[in-house]
Amino acid sequence: MNKEYQFIDVSLHGSVGVVALNRPKVLNAINRPMVTEIVTVIEEFDRNEQVKVIVLCGNGRAFAAGADIDEMAEANAIELELLNQFTEWDRIAWVKKPIIGAVQGFALGGGFELALCCDILFAAHDAEFGFPEISLGVMPGAGGTQRLTKLMGKSKAMEWLLTGDRMSANEALHYGVINRVIAKELLLEETMKFANKIAKQAPLSLRLIKESVLKAVDYSLYEGMQYERKNFYLLFASKDQKEGMQAFIEKRKPNFEGE
Ligand code: CAA
Repeated sequence: MNKEYQFIDVSLHGSVGVVALNRPKVLNAINRPMVTEIVTVIEEFDRNEQVKVIVLCGNGRAFAAGADIDEMAEANAIELELLNQFTEWDRIAWVKKPIIGAVQGFALGGGFELALCCDILFAAHDAEFGFPEISLGVMPGAGGTQRLTKLMGKSKAMEWLLTGDRMSANEALHYGVINRVIAKELLLEETMKFANKIAKQAPLSLRLIKESVLKAVDYSLYEGMQYERKNFYLLFASKDQKEGMQAFIEKRKPNFEGE
């Protein structure tokens, strides 16, 4: 990756594309240009055939301590409505490849919302998640009330959102918000190991499984099962389905090409 970005670091490790938020002096506070950079790169990775999995992490002592308060402090409602800034965040949810988040330190407000856009979340022991917006006289605006509630249920989400309290990595694990808690010094290594593991799977299966799981969050069981079924049938149009099943029959490892 040879492009220069102001607020993120971007790198490619084999078939894993890595985006690291990079404003460590302000705990990776997310300003609008940073969101534009993140979305641009993630969409580029989504189109790049070499990339199978995307990792999102933060440089320094935080994943991200929220949206940039300095940028928002003087905003007015009409300006925000016209700016419509959160449609950019929405595009992260349209990315087809799996996104794995690696969280160390704070994931607060918009930082927590960005983490909740990931498909899988690993966190270091020191990670702290929360929505402190209530103490700023606002509320989450990039999906926090919706995604947290869908993950942990109404009562618990209500508690965290109304108090603004921070949950530890172990609490987040307990409530099903994250997948694993990992020693801080091993967080990136373990995340990359996992990313590389799923990067070896059949790319079209990865894509359609991700899509189907995300539909389960919004659809009724019946609708979701119809959606799943069509995707299952669709995979029988792929060379990788023939290769995967032939390899099983021939007792060898499959060689998936994403076609
Ligand atoms: N926006 C702008 N700057 C931020 C920031 C943010 N969200 N979070 C931290 N910073 C800056 C601090 O101002 C400070 O800068 P200076 O050194 O120039 O003073 C620097 O990062 C380091 O922060 P602290 O000195 O405060 O570090 P700490 O360890 O004492 O505290 C913290 C860490 C508890 C995370 C504290 O920084 C904090 O409370 N940050 C704000 C968290 C927050 O309220 N986030 C929600 C934002 S609103 C939002 O996200 C809306 C949405 O839904 C989109």
